[in-house]
Amino acid sequence: MAAVMRAGEIPAPDHVRAIAPYQGGKPIEELARELGLDPVTIVKLASNENPLGMPESARRAMAAAIEDLGRYPDSNGFALKSALAAKLGVPMDWITLGNGSNDILELAAAALLAPGRSCVYAQHSFAVYALATQSRGARAIVVPAKRLAHDLDAMLAAIAPDTTLMYVANPNNPTGTFLGADQISAFLARVPTRVVVVIDEAYNEYLRPELRFDSTQWVRQFPNLLVSRTFSKAFGLAGLRVGYGIAQAELSDLLNRVRQPFNVNTAAQAAAVAALADDAFLARSYELNLRGMLQLTDGLRALGLEYEPSYGNFILIKVGAAGRVYEELLKRGVIVRPVANYQLPEWLRVTVGLPEENQRFLDALPAALAAARA
Ligand SMILES: Cc1ncc(COP(=O)(O)O)c(C=O)c1O
Repeated sequence: MAAVMRAGEIPAPDHVRAIAPYQGGKPIEELARELGLDPVTIVKLASNENPLGMPESARRAMAAAIEDLGRYPDSNGFALKSALAAKLGVPMDWITLGNGSNDILELAAAALLAPGRSCVYAQHSFAVYALATQSRGARAIVVPAKRLAHDLDAMLAAIAPDTTLMYVANPNNPTGTFLGADQISAFLARVPTRVVVVIDEAYNEYLRPELRFDSTQWVRQFPNLLVSRTFSKAFGLAGLRVGYGIAQAELSDLLNRVRQPFNVNTAAQAAAVAALADDAFLARSYELNLRGMLQLTDGLRALGLEYEPSYGNFILIKVGAAGRVYEELLKRGVIVRPVANYQLPEWLRVTVGLPEENQRFLDALPAALAAARA
């Protein structure tokens, strides 16, 4: 007879039981099932995906790679790492590939955190920092945001004797806030070398050219720095899961020790090599985002709504009872992202979509706001 187990008997450590699982954006198919809507009528602006979808160049590379799927991937990702190394001007052994940049964030935690250690990150910063910290049984030191942005001075002051890791999102999700190169430089110079800093640059490619800074210069200067980037956003490969980290060889070697040997699959590696070379697609993604952001901010101003100026491909909008507005938007076939789990219960995060998708959202918003108030 099968043993009967009572709830709570599986011997997971308390720090695992305490984890609140990640909440993703609602899938289009799910809303279609729930409301009996045709999926093609639904607009999803909830997961900071590229509205252009994947580049054609990546699709072709992936189709060719299908021939090799009977074999394991190249665990060292030679082709992708050499393309990245050439593009970034760093040695190949400074690059770590990840199953999305989420994986890079996790590898940093796996390499550096353990019970009895702590990790510093900012209030309202990307949810994975908390998850990665908690799952290692480490202590989270969450530093209050200054307005909605990271307070770097307070983060420095919060470093404890047992701190081994810090996460800085630049730009941050979900707030869209950005720290300029001068601020980051001054900050890195003051972080003790015994603390590893992850600068998470998932939205880097959306920055205006005058705001961009070549972060590899910091990597050269600081052996305790890891910069993470992704192919999920401007490169349009969110579903394939590819990201990378850049750090000097010693830190990269530590990440490699805790990495699953085949963490990035063959199709994803091939697609990422193609996407990296596809400057035209990247330029289109950037331009579309720039115009879409203007369309949204103009529309929000016309509606008299407060928003946080954003440096990413999404925008945080103050709507009051955001949970109710979210539900009302769903009824109108528009999926956005409530961010109460980020201690922002009055705000919604909306991804910049195609012009017609942005317009659908702007058109649905007044009625959703009114219904939420009723
Ligand atoms: C700030 C930030 N970092 C990292 C990620 C992880 O993205 P991915 O794992 O798709 O690279 C995201 C995704 O939304 C993000 O917003």
